[in-house]
Amino acid sequence: MMSSLLEIKNLEVSFDTVMGRVSVVRGVDISVDKGEILAVVGESGSGKSVTSLAVMGLSGGKIENGEIIFDGKDILGLTEKEMCEIRGNDISMIFQEPMTSLNPVVTIYKQLREVYKIHMPEKKDNCREEIIELLEKLNIPDAEKILKKYPFELSGGLKQRIMIAMGLICNPKLIIADEPTTALDVTTQAEILDILKDISTTQKKSVMIITHDLGVVAEIADRVSVMYFGKIVENCSTEEFFKNACHPYSKDLIGAMPDNFDGRFKSIEGNVPGMYEEVKGCPYFSRCSYASEICKKEEPPVIKISGNHSVRCHRAEQQEV
Ligand SMILES: Nc1ncnc2c1ncn2[C@@H]1O[C@H](COP(=O)(O)OP(=O)(O)OP(=O)(O)O)[C@@H](O)[C@H]1O
Ligand SMILES: [Mg+2]
Repeated sequence: MMSSLLEIKNLEVSFDTVMGRVSVVRGVDISVDKGEILAVVGESGSGKSVTSLAVMGLSGGKIENGEIIFDGKDILGLTEKEMCEIRGNDISMIFQEPMTSLNPVVTIYKQLREVYKIHMPEKKDNCREEIIELLEKLNIPDAEKILKKYPFELSGGLKQRIMIAMGLICNPKLIIADEPTTALDVTTQAEILDILKDISTTQKKSVMIITHDLGVVAEIADRVSVMYFGKIVENCSTEEFFKNACHPYSKDLIGAMPDNFDGRFKSIEGNVPGMYEEVKGCPYFSRCSYASEICKKEEPPVIKISGNHSVRCHRAEQQEV
């Protein structure tokens, strides 16, 4: 069996709001194996970003419960200083909007060199060669020239590649990419996905990619975890997902893909329960075309369908699929 690099177990994160405490991540289980690309998919507000930020110790919320095991160690217990070591050294994060993550008044070279200053000060005076080599690996043409530019002089795709480069300097074991291609056009998106895939394959890095886009899942992911209302409702290989998704929500997501899929879900009818609502049974109940009495009353347990395919659905239990 492959060993997990990241294992999130029963994670619960809540926020204090003016209307009281709300639980937004309600018991998430996610694992990412070494060298694997895991896609986390789900509608807006399902808790994808909060979960991934929690891995970095940056959720901003209160961790109510659970464990986050990274490389064999529970990182929830670490001090801020120890967590700082892990961020940037072992785990790096790539966000949707590269422009807001780059400093507009500093050249690309200086921004990349800053990473050396912080994490590898011994190399900071001789890092130029290494940076150029890295940019070339990421298919950045004219790396020398690019280094002298400011962020506004670069296209969105190039900026995102610079962000990836920045995340790779420390040679992390895990890359978390939160909607890394959503702001890009389709061609550039494909190039960035290729790069992430290449990094994962050739350098055996693990990637957790968060996306709305089932096209991205099909293109890049080895495995999929579907998130709904703060929990993972289905977890399986990408192949299994598109052939044999079991949870009605997963099926609806796939069914909502139009023929000429542009990467966005058509909306599924009905609404996700409100954050302040008390949900007793299955949170997909009101939207589910297969719902029965039990779904209204009892929250479904995780049912194992086969080796690495599991689903949170009463129907799966009844059918013994
Ligand atoms: N600081 C906060 N205070 C209160 N609620 C928050 C806070 N941060 C996030 N939330 C809530 O937590 C829920 C989950 O947010 P999250 O950003 O993880 O969703 P997401 O799945 O990443 O959605 P999207 O696809 O839109 O990025 C949302 O309902 C959001 O409003
Ligand atoms: Mg998000």
